Amino acid sequence: MLDVVAEKITRIYPMGRVEVVGVCEIDLEISHGEMVLIKGESGSGKSTLLSLLAGLDRPTSGSLTVSGLKLESASAGELTEFRRRSVGIVFQFFNLLPTLTVIENVSLPALLAGEGRPAAAKRAADLLSWLGMDKRANHFPSQLSGGEMQRSAIARSLINDPSVILADEPTGNLDSKNATAVIELLAKLNRDLRRTVIIATHSSLADRYCTARLVLKDGAIVES
Ligand SMILES: Nc1ncnc2c1ncn2[C@@H]1O[C@H](COP(=O)(O)OP(=O)(O)OP(=O)(O)O)[C@@H](O)[C@H]1O
Ligand SMILES: [Mg+2]
Repeated sequence: MLDVVAEKITRIYPMGRVEVVGVCEIDLEISHGEMVLIKGESGSGKSTLLSLLAGLDRPTSGSLTVSGLKLESASAGELTEFRRRSVGIVFQFFNLLPTLTVIENVSLPALLAGEGRPAAAKRAADLLSWLGMDKRANHFPSQLSGGEMQRSAIARSLINDPSVILADEPTGNLDSKNATAVIELLAKLNRDLRRTVIIATHSSLADRYCTARLVLKDGAIVES
């Protein structure tokens, strides 16, 4: 089964009188269960591509299907459901809500998807325990280390059981020990839980776990 089918997707950012190319005519197929690394210099289009795959942004042209949903023609409601249920997104700066505890942060996407509070809290607790974070469940993000914040963010990305995990520089703010732990966790999600994992990263820590890699330059794939 294919989780990603991209045909000539292009994203142009109009900036006044000039146009900036985010990505240009990307063709891509990713099967379910792959672990794909997206490499390339700063400004090469990695975050642009991940935002398109996540349904956070729409291509200027081209066709993009992720987890069976044709994103370019999806309605706003379908895109919201897609972001909630089909993909899990992990960011460089964790993006946890500071006024919620860890377990509340992790439960939130389940509550937004309509699940009851007790069931959401139970699954959040199970995920945190699986990630070795039981003792941190009732802490606030400001009380955590960077590695713990990212593990919490990974738990949050998993709460609605997405088939595809998208991570943009997930280790960009971590020291090497925590960075290794986060990459090993993403590899474990891929291997043991059979999730498709797509990571944009400058780091080589994930190289030995990936099933495919592609290199972007000026918004185009130059190597795959
Ligand atoms: N919102 C935006 N508006 C205008 N131009 C943008 C926007 N986002 C990205 N770009 C431009 O699109 C190109 C690709 O940017 P992108 O953020 O995808 O690169 P990247 O590979 O993720 O870089 P980095 O490794 O620094 O994160 C760059 O030229 C960038 O300046
Ligand atoms: Mg980026």
